Amino acid sequence: MILVTGGAGFIGANFVLDWLAQSDEPVVNLDKLTYAGNRENLASLQGDGRHIFVQGDIGDTSLVERLLAGHRPRAVINFAAESHVDRSIHGPGEFIQTNVVGTFRLLDAVRGYWAGLEAEHRQAFRFLHVSTDEVYGSLAPHDPAFAETNRYEPNSPYSASKAASDHLVRAWHHTYGLPVLTTNCSNNYGPYHFPEKLIPLMIVNALAGKPLPVYGDGMQIRDWLYVKDHCSAIRTVLAGGRVGETYNVGGWNEKPNIEIVQTVCALLDELRPRPDGQSYAGQITYVTDRPGHDRRYAIDARKLERELGWRPAETFETGIRKTVRWYLDNPDWVAHVQSGAYREWVSKQYASA
Ligand code: NAD
Ligand code: DAU
Repeated sequence: MILVTGGAGFIGANFVLDWLAQSDEPVVNLDKLTYAGNRENLASLQGDGRHIFVQGDIGDTSLVERLLAGHRPRAVINFAAESHVDRSIHGPGEFIQTNVVGTFRLLDAVRGYWAGLEAEHRQAFRFLHVSTDEVYGSLAPHDPAFAETNRYEPNSPYSASKAASDHLVRAWHHTYGLPVLTTNCSNNYGPYHFPEKLIPLMIVNALAGKPLPVYGDGMQIRDWLYVKDHCSAIRTVLAGGRVGETYNVGGWNEKPNIEIVQTVCALLDELRPRPDGQSYAGQITYVTDRPGHDRRYAIDARKLERELGWRPAETFETGIRKTVRWYLDNPDWVAHVQSGAYREWVSKQYASA
């Protein structure tokens, strides 16, 4: 079996669902259920004996040790993290606690377990750490895309905490021999994406008749990847990645934010037209920029393609259409995640919008 951390969040839940759709290998899912963790994401697995959910913290060493000893996984895949850049600006403490201290404690518990395995299992074991392209900093308009050899230049408390965690993972390999793999992925989108992030926020605000808050001039560029393609990349790296290596994962879909928002509006105009016949684009509002906002990310994913033959299955056009449809088809999920805590965040972050 495998142990997944953070498997009730956006990418982790998609990963667990995809994994169990393709394999009968059981999953132990350790998740703290922060505001971003949602058991509803895993509702379709209710009663499925292949999925064992445990609410808990990756930094709780005795819990992690108990889970490892009790379930004896052949791999650990670490998705657990605080993930939202704007929240890291308001309150970096939780990011240091989970992303840095939590990753350290998880690594150390895993090291103890791994060291005690029989030689054959010790050799086959993997610790896969899920990281981000944001550790590489920001690109100028004509810079080449981030390669695995780029220098780490994180600019936000979030990306600095992820960079620190990547360094810990690297050190646990070089110093202790732990068989690690690290993936650095670009912006994901798709089902179960929490509506604090750009794409789902725009969908839910548009449908609610609210402003669509675009930071600064809206010309910041991100490289978008459909979440199921990220999941397939992780499965590919887990199966065939070279121990100690890092792999960049991206969708070859660089787009400025304003274009993303316009695309979402156009799809909603087609699939759920406003009663007054006007376009949702009329709700776009430019608001104060994010402090220290990185201008451009772009991922060079050729290493993963060359070594392991991975390429994304979705284009942005197919993926964004599926995503908008998913939000239209799942109004209950949307309503449930917009709890009191969500409303508090939105009013704090967009107070002046
Ligand atoms: P998310 O915020 O949606 O989910 C994070 C999950 O981790 C939640 O279920 C939360 O409850 C859990 N969690 C948080 N702290 C925990 C702790 N201390 N112990 C156990 N569980 C804890 O995040 P996501 O977007 O699904 O991102 C998953 C991972 O992928 C993160 O490591 C993130 O840095 C990385 N990543 C995300 C993106 C993206 O575009 N979303 C891109 C590249 C990399
Ligand atoms: O690049 C990978 C990263 O992508 C992940 O590591 C992070 O966990 C994930 O949150 C994401 O970070 P971003 O900051 O790029 O994502 P976000 O959805 O918050 O913002 C995307 C872009 O849209 C960014 O340039 C900021 C802008 N934006 C965002 C929000 C929430 C707006 O213009 N308005 C908004 O209201």
